[in-house]
Amino acid sequence: MTVLGLARLWALVCSAGWGWAVAQTPETISVASPDRGKALLLQRQDSGCVLCHQVQGLPAGGALGPSLVGLADRSSKEQARERIADARRFNPQTIMPAYFSTEGLNKVANPYKGQTILTAQGLEDILSYLFLPSKATP
Ligand code: HEC
Repeated sequence: MTVLGLARLWALVCSAGWGWAVAQTPETISVASPDRGKALLLQRQDSGCVLCHQVQGLPAGGALGPSLVGLADRSSKEQARERIADARRFNPQTIMPAYFSTEGLNKVANPYKGQTILTAQGLEDILSYLFLPSKATP
């Protein structure tokens, strides 16, 4: 094998290895912040949650989805995480966007293809706000 051939082979090995490493490394998440979660819940363009839901401590929200006031009394954090990540797992006909999934979505604009709507951090921040003990809700 020529030197150039070796170099090409090495580049291939490295790029394949790097791709694998990236795919295997989960996003690192810092401590969830209810304040960031609150801001995300309120963002009409990025999350849109308040377009469909009432949320405790936030100005009046929409009524396309159930009120999230008192969510902690009827749902575990794990259930809510699953629901927000991909509500289609519970209801295939749901109108709620799948916030942490890129599977089976159509009509996604090119710049957003392959991206989840929320980051893993954003999802945890939102959960930390929704599951604040009600007395502590700002
Ligand atoms: C287009 C409207 C819409 C948007 C936007 C939306 N949801 Fe929903 N959501 C729904 C509907 C409708 C349901 C009821 C269950 C179903 O149809 O899947 C629901 C259910 C839920 C539930 C379960 C409620 C329960 O009573 O158990 C949670 C939690 C939730 N949504 C959180 C969120 C969060 C957080 C966001 C923003 C990141 C969001 N939703 C954005 C429509 C929406």
